[in-house]
Amino acid sequence: MLYHQETKDCFGDGGLGEQSFAAALKRTSAALEGIRAAHEDGSLPLLRLPARTDDLDSLKPVADRFRTNFDHVVVLGTGGSSLGGQTVCQLADRGFGPLPGAPKLHFLDNIDPDTFASLFAAIDLARTGFIVISKSGGTAETLSQFMVCLDALIAKVGKEAVGHHALIISEPTDNPLRRLGLEWGLTALDHDPGIGGRFSVLSPVGMLPCMIAGLDAYALRAGAAEVLDIALAAGDPADCPPAVGAALSIALLGDRGAGTTVIMPYVDRLASFGAWYQQLWAESLGKDGKGTTPVRAIGTTDQHSQLQLYLDGPRDKMFTLMFSDIAGTGGDIGKGAANDASLAYLADRTMGDLMDVEQRATAATLAANGCPTRIISFVRLDEKVMGALLMHFMLETVIAAHLLGVDAFDQPAVEQGKVLAREYLAQMDKPG
Ligand code: PA5
Repeated sequence: MLYHQETKDCFGDGGLGEQSFAAALKRTSAALEGIRAAHEDGSLPLLRLPARTDDLDSLKPVADRFRTNFDHVVVLGTGGSSLGGQTVCQLADRGFGPLPGAPKLHFLDNIDPDTFASLFAAIDLARTGFIVISKSGGTAETLSQFMVCLDALIAKVGKEAVGHHALIISEPTDNPLRRLGLEWGLTALDHDPGIGGRFSVLSPVGMLPCMIAGLDAYALRAGAAEVLDIALAAGDPADCPPAVGAALSIALLGDRGAGTTVIMPYVDRLASFGAWYQQLWAESLGKDGKGTTPVRAIGTTDQHSQLQLYLDGPRDKMFTLMFSDIAGTGGDIGKGAANDASLAYLADRTMGDLMDVEQRATAATLAANGCPTRIISFVRLDEKVMGALLMHFMLETVIAAHLLGVDAFDQPAVEQGKVLAREYLAQMDKPG
């Protein structure tokens, strides 16, 4: 198993009763049955992705072209069309630049004009590729991002070169993005209509940026496959970590009123993972007055920020801490401590030692304060582990939706704001 899920500190004082958990876990059997059936009949194409390599083989020349021709690649899109790629690519770029031989990837998932002005001032558009991602092809934010970039690109490289610099990923329907792409001669890759944005990280939406960044997309899919195979084979839901996780969350909500779920990795390269998870959980489950509110934190940073509230505020949370095997790694932190007795505890220690004890101390303190805490641990974060974690949380979300009795794959409530925004735009005075 690529990771281990430890749940004992979800029980006991302040935590979950064994019986409520057992009842919720039993109810996950039907969800697992549904997942098995959907895998079998192909009705949930997300479940077929882990075993596939043919589509990655076809993406490789596209990724190679972007890697060879560009110093910068700008990925336009929002929500599920961006967060998966951001999450995966953080494996390669910790904020200090790309892997050798890879262009710098920039994920622009908002429409703040200042950001775009800064981008255009900072990068050479003649050496920049654009990937425009929208499943529906009709998202106003993504279309406006694209049009602003198109203008800037044409001004720099001319109309004829646009097709060389940009491609789109969208459903194979007659949609506005696809039409625009066609008009400008762009390559259009298909977004599988059966895979929703927030479940699309293993599709070309996440895998193309992953390959451009120089990461091993095949290994990532293999990691996802390991978790999926365990779920498909589990005769008893107790043997399926995503089912156990979903049962914990939903039973803690019912039993202890844990309406908030905090995800707190002690790995900087999982910071974007927290954002991805937050969207997945919130948009999939927050329906009909149900759901729990996902909050992201990062250890150790948030020990100096949110931890006071976690330990001493309302007892309405479940915690998921994520640990790697980090002791003994990193720089020596003991040297400067040699002459100061008050720093003797740091002598002969590494930065990884300190991270290791801090993550364990936080988990123990949360448990001692009656805060239900599960720990997901792995040896070292790489593509395979990332794939496993992504699949774990997608399955956990689908199973939790089943327990709550909501549809994980729709998002009816956000439509209202979109319609209103269009009305406001229509009413707004135009310049000139
Ligand atoms: O997960 C989702 O469905 C959403 O977050 C979408 O990804 C987001 O609204 C963008 O939609 P689209 O890809 O159609 O532009």
